[in-house]
Amino acid sequence: MQATPTKRETFKAVPAVYLVLLKGTKVLLSKRANTGYEDGNYSLVAGHVEAGESLRAGLAREGSEEIGLQLSEDAIEHALTMYRFASSSNPPERLDVFFVVKNWQGEPENKEPDKCAELAWFDIHKLPANIIPYIKHALKQIIFGNSFCEFGFNMPIIKEITVEETLPLRSAVLRDGKPFDQCRFAEDGQRGSFHLGYFDDEQLVGVASFYEIGFDNIDEPGIQLRGMAVDNHYQGKGIGKALVQFAEQKIESNQSITHIWCNARKIAYKFYESQGFGFVSEEFEIDEVGPHRKMIKTLKQ
Ligand SMILES: CC(C)(COP(=O)(O)OP(=O)(O)OC[C@H]1O[C@@H](n2cnc3c(N)ncnc32)[C@H](O)[C@@H]1OP(=O)(O)O)[C@@H](O)C(=O)NCCC(=O)NCCS
Repeated sequence: MQATPTKRETFKAVPAVYLVLLKGTKVLLSKRANTGYEDGNYSLVAGHVEAGESLRAGLAREGSEEIGLQLSEDAIEHALTMYRFASSSNPPERLDVFFVVKNWQGEPENKEPDKCAELAWFDIHKLPANIIPYIKHALKQIIFGNSFCEFGFNMPIIKEITVEETLPLRSAVLRDGKPFDQCRFAEDGQRGSFHLGYFDDEQLVGVASFYEIGFDNIDEPGIQLRGMAVDNHYQGKGIGKALVQFAEQKIESNQSITHIWCNARKIAYKFYESQGFGFVSEEFEIDEVGPHRKMIKTLKQ
């Protein structure tokens, strides 16, 4: 008997509407509070559309609920549609639709002080530093006259960071919460060293450091990998692998480097093996940390 084919689930993004209330070149921003998302940062008056509700009706409802304005649907002009990538901490994707309103009656009032710390007018060309990045991007698109954009897809989530930025994760993941100063390595400031961070939204969730130090008995230049740490809640999601691959691509642009090596902790042997590293020592003990083996990977020439 043939199995009944199951119906493929249609992917659903979440639609949201945003009010770009304009007074000349000033735009009304709302500072988020107590919501668990981007609190302390500026956004626009906005909200999710309800089932059966048109986008403009949704916007008029949000305008009334959040700032007490009765917006006429005729005064609500579509300005921009943004399709926005969702991070793993904030799925799924969003379909954000921005509407400009230039004519309205009355003054906006903060009707939801539990969720909005303040309403404030800003020059659209001089937005505050603590504005949510995709809102800033949307407003820029509107100034440029663009009516469609996408945000967050293929954005670099790995980038170079400073030693200081590595310390909280080194401390939490590798050093049992020891003070940051005890999580520094003597080689941290060494010439040619670099540190990589993996970001989920704005949050740094993985770090790794690289030093121009060749392996013991190899004459050619090499790189030592140290301080590889992924936040406990993010382990096993491909972040360690992405950091190693990013570093290898960066290192490979320097033709003379032939290998990358590390003192691998026992719990990380399998991880390094999966990334093409092989063992080049017996097990040895590092004080207060535990058993390790030296592992090395030869880079393509
Ligand atoms: C070790 C560590 C850096 C790996 O990073 P991660 O983001 O958790 O690992 P990833 O999800 O990128 O895993 C990549 C690959 O390694 C494998 N892997 C990772 N940890 C593994 C483990 N403990 N056992 C078996 N396989 C493992 C994964 O299955 C995956 O395989 P795939 O590429 O075939 O899918 C991270 O788990 C960590 O910070 N651990 C605690 C601190 C630590 O030990 N640091 C290393 C010091 S030397």
